[in-house]
Amino acid sequence: MSQARVLLFDSGMGGLTVARSVRHELPFAHLVYSADNAAFPYGAWEEQALVQRILFVMGKLIERVEPDIVVIACNTASTIALAQLREKFKVPFVGTVPAIKPAAAQSKSHIIGVLATPGTVRREYTHTLIHDFASHCHVTLHGAPKLAEIAERKLKGVPVDLDELKAEVAPVFVEEGGKRTDVVVLGCTHYPLLADELAKVEPWVVRYIDPAPAIARRVADVLKDVVPKEPTKPVPPHNSVLLTSTREAAADALPAYAKMSFHLPEFLDLKV
Ligand code: DGL
Repeated sequence: MSQARVLLFDSGMGGLTVARSVRHELPFAHLVYSADNAAFPYGAWEEQALVQRILFVMGKLIERVEPDIVVIACNTASTIALAQLREKFKVPFVGTVPAIKPAAAQSKSHIIGVLATPGTVRREYTHTLIHDFASHCHVTLHGAPKLAEIAERKLKGVPVDLDELKAEVAPVFVEEGGKRTDVVVLGCTHYPLLADELAKVEPWVVRYIDPAPAIARRVADVLKDVVPKEPTKPVPPHNSVLLTSTREAAADALPAYAKMSFHLPEFLDLKV
């Protein structure tokens, strides 16, 4: 089972934070990291158009990779398309949604923040999570317009502008009735890439929740019931990366993928 083929999917490099945990949990699995980087950022997309885009790209990816399991390592995609992906494709899917339940359970002040993309913040799915698991908390849900892009730029070698970062996250730091925000959900897989910089700009110390280790455990659990398929055609090699842009457009991102051991970039043909 450890040789299973795991397809990880995000709009960009954020899902690498999930890939890192999956690799730790399943060190012998074949990981194929896919990013719909031609369509990044997903956070700015209109909902129906985004669902169509995700279903289309996923169809191409599944045909190409023949995965045993797909990890949607993207909150913006999972909160809008997970149900339809499961309906349309036979392969098991594990999604990534804001970790509101553990945040509410861990908060002592009962003031929690949720940092996510503007898309995830608008989703009914996210509001239902707050209603179901955090109704006893004061929840500040903040759609950060540029945070995912700041993380992408960091991985491409651009230094993080701490003033810009501070302004992006400031709304989740709340003081009320002598209490403060004490837990912040990283509701976009890009955000843990900024962990060091976030620690530098926080007005007081908070606990950030990165759901990646929990997602990786879930992947291992689901895989226990899945028998790996014999490939019917040559498969991408161990730890490969598949992108939707051209090679030229992805040139500045390739070193970051290589650093995470995702070599041999390939480019998905999206022609119908
Ligand atoms: N990494 C994605 C997420 O978890 C979103 C980044 C984007 O806006 O494309 O939500």
